[in-house]
Amino acid sequence: MQKSLIIGNSHIVLHKTASTNQYLSEWARKKVIAEGTVVRAINQTQGRGQKGTQWYSTPDESLTFSLYLIPDFLPIDQQFFLNMAICNGIISCFKQFFDQPQIKWPNDIFLNKKKCGGILIENSISHGCISSSVVGIGINLNQKAFPNDLPFATSLFMQTQLHFSPDDFLLNLCQHLDIEYRQLREGKMEQIQKCYLGHLFGLNNEQRFRNESGEFIGIIKGITQAGLLVVQNGYTEKQYALKEIQFVF
Ligand code: BTN
Repeated sequence: MQKSLIIGNSHIVLHKTASTNQYLSEWARKKVIAEGTVVRAINQTQGRGQKGTQWYSTPDESLTFSLYLIPDFLPIDQQFFLNMAICNGIISCFKQFFDQPQIKWPNDIFLNKKKCGGILIENSISHGCISSSVVGIGINLNQKAFPNDLPFATSLFMQTQLHFSPDDFLLNLCQHLDIEYRQLREGKMEQIQKCYLGHLFGLNNEQRFRNESGEFIGIIKGITQAGLLVVQNGYTEKQYALKEIQFVF
């Protein structure tokens, strides 16, 4: 495996912090940070999730970290490509251990229809481009069970009965993320989208959804350039933002 060029070049480990995304964002407001810096927390006490949720993690069993990127080459209307590149990096890492890791739109990492990883990207925008980005990643590594209110969560241990070292896994993952991030820098947009769609959970299959009008069965047809989910319902196709649609399992 090639040595990481950008991601993980600088790496700090915190024993305890509320949220690695918050830590890195506050740090970036005060100091200049090298692109690719990784901050990992052994014990993250108030992890932030998508749509204002909290990310559940347990010390030693979870991998919780954030990385600092400067994707200033990426116009705002292409910001979903950063999300796709990060998802692709995680998937390519998981493929060393699993046959069919999948991405549940927009950025949940799935194993056997259960969630084992999540991503929260917080961008700073300036002059129509992303000036910097804090990419937070949570992976359920070694949990043996989850609280009852997380019935769709799984861990790598639960899927394999193997223990994963957070340090080794992080190093390995950074190398895969680095490869995908370089693809993004090189403008390989088609390749990035193809890889993302190739691992998209439910693509071209019937799936139950909920929107503001209630539940319905639709077929995922793809993703727009802006990252909206394209769902066919009967003879009509509609595009949905994250807040507008929910998967029903
Ligand atoms: C999701 O809801 O799926 C996104 C979860 C993102 C969690 C990670 S854990 C490390 C980083 N720090 C945070 O506070 N959140 C992200």
